[in-house]
Amino acid sequence: MRILHRGMTATLSIGVIGLLFAPLLQAQEYPPDITRGKTVYQRDCQACHGAGGWGDGPEAQALKIAPANFHRFSSFLKSDEELLRTIEHGVVFSPMHAWRGQLTDGEMQDAVAYIRLLSQRAR
Ligand code: HEC
Repeated sequence: MRILHRGMTATLSIGVIGLLFAPLLQAQEYPPDITRGKTVYQRDCQACHGAGGWGDGPEAQALKIAPANFHRFSSFLKSDEELLRTIEHGVVFSPMHAWRGQLTDGEMQDAVAYIRLLSQRAR
C-alpha cells in the first residue's frame, strides 16, 4: 500500500513538472533541426543566397541589391535573433521579403542554424 502511494506521488509530481514546462517547449522548438533547416534553405533561400551561403545563387545576378553573403564579418557579428528578425520581417527596399506567414517559427530558427553551419565552411 505504501509503495503504491509513493509511486503515485512520483507520477503526479512528474505530471505537474511537465505541465509547468509545456508552454516553454511550445514557445521555442529548441534545439534547432539543421536537417530541416537545410531543406528549407535549399527550397526557399538558395536561389539567392547560394548553395554555400556566399550570396551567389543563380538569381543573385538579376538583383539590384545583392543577397547577403553569410560569410562576411558583418553577418557573423549578428546574433541569431537579429538574423531571425530579418528573415521574419525582410529587408525594406530589397528583394529579401518577409517570410512570416510562409515559414513557421521553427522553420526560421532551423534556417538560421543551417546558415550558421554554412558560414563556418570554407569554399
Ligand atoms: C529574392 C532573393 C532572396 C531570397 C529568396 C532570400 N533572400 Fe535573404 N536576402 C536577400 C537580400 C537582397 C538581402 C539583403 C542583403 C543586404 O542587406 O545586404 C538578404 C538578407 C538576408 C539576411 C540578413 C543577413 C545579414 O547579415 O543581415 C538573412 C539572415 C537572410 N537574408 C536569410 C534568408 C533566408 C533564411 C531565406 C530563405 C527562407 C532568404 N534569405 C531568401 C535576398 C534573398
